Amino acid sequence: MNNKENFITVGPSAGLRGEVAMPGDKSISHRAVILGSIAEGITEVDNLLEATDNMRTLEAFARMGVNIEAKEKGKLRIDGCGLHGLTGPPDVIDCGNSGTTARLLLGLLSPQTFSSELTGDASLRKRPMKRVVEPLVRMGASITGSDGGEYLPISITGARLKGIKYKTPVASAQVKSALLLAGLYAEGETVVIESQASRDHTERLLKVFSVDITVEGTRTAVRKTESLKGCKITVPGDFSSAAFFIVGAALTPGSELLIKDVGVNPTRTGLINILKKMGASVETLNPREVSGEPVADILVKSSNPKGTAISGAELLPAIDEFPAICVLAAKAEGVTTIEGAAELRVKETDRIAAMAAALKALGINVTEKPDGIVIEGSRAPGYLMGGKVESHGDHRIAMAMTIAGLASEKGVTVEGMDCVDISFPGFFDLLKTTVVDKNAIDLSGVTSSG
Ligand code: S3P
Repeated sequence: MNNKENFITVGPSAGLRGEVAMPGDKSISHRAVILGSIAEGITEVDNLLEATDNMRTLEAFARMGVNIEAKEKGKLRIDGCGLHGLTGPPDVIDCGNSGTTARLLLGLLSPQTFSSELTGDASLRKRPMKRVVEPLVRMGASITGSDGGEYLPISITGARLKGIKYKTPVASAQVKSALLLAGLYAEGETVVIESQASRDHTERLLKVFSVDITVEGTRTAVRKTESLKGCKITVPGDFSSAAFFIVGAALTPGSELLIKDVGVNPTRTGLINILKKMGASVETLNPREVSGEPVADILVKSSNPKGTAISGAELLPAIDEFPAICVLAAKAEGVTTIEGAAELRVKETDRIAAMAAALKALGINVTEKPDGIVIEGSRAPGYLMGGKVESHGDHRIAMAMTIAGLASEKGVTVEGMDCVDISFPGFFDLLKTTVVDKNAIDLSGVTSSG
């Protein structure tokens, strides 16, 4: 995945301009496939993200007997097998790099009548799973894995579950979603209480599938459910993919970019609040609702952002945007401090360490903290000169550092770009359509479809 031959060189650009649309949301695409598979009847999905992570979820359900027909690009027809119609997978389910596949499947597989085993790539096998395993075991699940179920590979023996009331120690949509999926099968009521609302796509989509789910503030409850009803879903554009274009346009002089049909669920749009606080020019236009999710167009113009202090609570709805925010901070006027974000150390990479290393390689003054980072930014000429950085196989680091190239003085080469396909196939070509000076992006070192 992390291949030095696969690199991109991005030079300073004269701006990002025009109109662009993002591919479908990654989180919602996973959930559309999962819920469509256990629904009754046909579910038709439009604008599904066909990224490597999502294909892991799709393959898992195909191997558990669900008939999933890929029509034209981004369109799926899922012949749901009902809550009790999945069949035991013939082999270990490989979740690849996808934390969402692994954690949501842990919840869904625990109450089945068959046994299963989950594994993943080297990065996923290092990511914590006990946060899901522990409450599932309290519900009656039978799960074993190394270090008490902390790490994949993990084996699940189907069991009868009972609902619990659970306060999550970390606000995590993956933990909440795993428990809600298990809760569809568990006796009585399953209640998840969070300290702060994590992304709520599972809850919204369960409603679209006609499930009775109660959300009161940060308390979410489901009961043992008879059935989910197949439906039609249009997946909104991924805000986390749009984030790279938003930050690129905000930082690059001469930019004015309209990003169409983006999901603007408030549990995801923390970057907009942070940008506004930094004095950047960003507006959401034409708000509407699609498949239970808020959608809008986002207009960004280049501006002169100022450094700021970002708390853990402000970062949660921008958790996947940390790499892009670090790039923004490097080219903002003054110091930016991010704290209360220790979760970033257990993402696809340790994103605090990886971003600190990448920015230092470009000559930026950065101080790493156990739960955050301090970045000294400047818009002065000569700052963010450029250089060579490494993606560490992390798709979001790779794309954030590509954007850093646009805002740099002399260009940035990012090595290990094939990982971009994990969440954003087509990223390079799409970015190129928006930069006014096409030769600012040199794709001759790229061999992936990203
Ligand atoms: C996701 C939830 C978040 C996010 C991840 C996708 C999801 O993870 O970082 O990229 O689809 O539920 P956590 O639940 O670990 O915060």
